[in-house]
Amino acid sequence: MTGTSKSLVVGLALVFTACGGSKSKDATTAGSIGKGSAIEAFGLTPPDSPWAEMSVADREFYMIGKVNPVMGEIFERYDPEEYEGFDCVDCHGEEMREIEFKMPAPSMYVVPPEGTPGHRGMLVTFPETVQFMQETVTPAMGKLLGIEDFTCASCHPTSPPQKKKKASAKKSSSGKING
Ligand code: HEC
Ligand code: HEC
Repeated sequence: MTGTSKSLVVGLALVFTACGGSKSKDATTAGSIGKGSAIEAFGLTPPDSPWAEMSVADREFYMIGKVNPVMGEIFERYDPEEYEGFDCVDCHGEEMREIEFKMPAPSMYVVPPEGTPGHRGMLVTFPETVQFMQETVTPAMGKLLGIEDFTCASCHPTSPPQKKKKASAKKSSSGKING
């Protein structure tokens, strides 16, 4: 696993440094994504054919070639340290292959429905991140997929995974304060 992603990263690094030899001014020419910006090279544009009609293979290709580099740049610009090396796994979760890239990934941070105490708690805990998500991430992703009503819930689950029913029932009724 690590090997695969490492070689992918090395491959991408090669692509991105291939034109880095000279700092020529025409680095903005179409096709030259050398040291340039993926956002500038691709734009926040929808796929050629509607996302809904694309095969899973085409979707994966689109993710690799466009969504991942563009969104990666958006996240890295926002917080270079936190999101350095941003990749598929940041949106799709560690289990992405097992769940065949289904979104929202159950392991993603839970964004509770608006108006709930959980949602208010999130606003208090992550004011800046929420603003970035709302004003930048969500609209950018919607544009890249050509989906108009793209929301937080397209990437984040709205409730925790329901694997262990007993455990969650216990939690809500016991009100345990400490062990
Ligand atoms: C910024 C977040 C983000 C990143 C990064 C990302 N994806 Fe996605 N991906 C999504 C979302 C959201 C969807 C589902 C869109 C929808 O249909 O609503 C998706 C859908 C997919 C699908 C289609 C699944 C299906 O059944 O239709 C595949 C395959 C996929 N991604 C692969 C990848 C791969 C491979 C990478 C890394 C190169 C990647 N994604 C990076 C957000 C992301
Ligand atoms: C395109 C997919 C996508 C959309 C849409 C999206 N997010 Fe996110 N969100 C992410 C990714 C990726 C992360 C970083 C996850 C990580 O650090 O591994 C994240 C992180 C967060 C975090 C920080 C969680 C933590 O533990 O640090 C919060 C809070 C959050 N998102 C809220 C929201 C809200 C609210 C919305 C809607 C307004 C939203 N997100 C829309 C992909 C998305």
